[in-house]
Amino acid sequence: MYINIKDISHKYSNEDEDLLVLKDLSFSVEKDKFVSIVGPSGCGKSTLTKLIAGLSIPYKGKILISGTPVNSPRKSIGMAFQNPVLLEWRTAVDNICLPLEIVSPQMTRKQKIERATELLEMVGLKDFSQSRPSQLSGGMKQRVSLCRSLVHRPEILILDEPFGALDAFTREGLWRTLKDLKTSENFTCILITHDLREAIYLSDEVVILTDRPGTVKESVKTNFQINSNSVDELYSKEATKMLAFLRKQIELSHTKL
Ligand SMILES: Nc1ncnc2c1ncn2[C@@H]1O[C@H](COP(=O)(O)OP(=O)(O)OP(=O)(O)O)[C@@H](O)[C@H]1O
Ligand SMILES: [Mg+2]
Repeated sequence: MYINIKDISHKYSNEDEDLLVLKDLSFSVEKDKFVSIVGPSGCGKSTLTKLIAGLSIPYKGKILISGTPVNSPRKSIGMAFQNPVLLEWRTAVDNICLPLEIVSPQMTRKQKIERATELLEMVGLKDFSQSRPSQLSGGMKQRVSLCRSLVHRPEILILDEPFGALDAFTREGLWRTLKDLKTSENFTCILITHDLREAIYLSDEVVILTDRPGTVKESVKTNFQINSNSVDELYSKEATKMLAFLRKQIELSHTKL
């Protein structure tokens, strides 16, 4: 297994008490697969993304990537969040170049711009490369944010509810963009989402977490082969059945193990 999360527990401490957020959580992800994680608000999903990225260390258990324990932030990971947090004083293309300035200082400015422009083209925003974030719509900002998370060719992309703030049509457009990016850029993806259609459409497997302290309640292989242009398939009988099954599992996940 490429990403191996083994029996991790994590807690936050303040002066008075410890808050156990994740408990004995284990799952693994094969290389180049797409896994979605769903679970109740506050069950530790964002915490889990920080642990996988090496931004925090679990107090118990371990996370291995290609067999190597994660104990510091890794260059080979890209991340994007619900709020794109772009820098207003930089143009779209310069926002995308930012990670390269940190992890690839040997690249020339021309090479960085070329790489950023290649991604802008893939997400349909080539004409907006010189725009400032305030001149872009919410969906466009999230496209720029996706480009920024992929610019340094990470092996793993972690997305924490990246489309949560967008309207349904914009969101569906971004699902297609993400599928296309996955095909052309080739990475292993972990997506945190509350949208089960999004999970089915994009992923090979959906991992359902329990209430806090979060642990794996169920892991469901979706095997839902959809033509990347057809979100309509999500309304088919097969998809509806899968959604009902996942919804039921989530309901059960509220029952403490
Ligand atoms: N830095 C922190 N210090 C203290 N407590 C924290 C910290 N970050 C998160 N928590 C707490 O840990 C718990 C899990 O938070 P987390 O953000 O991981 O949940 P989540 O599953 O991502 O929730 P949501 O679906 O609402 O985004 C929450 O109770 C939160 O208050
Ligand atoms: Mg969260």
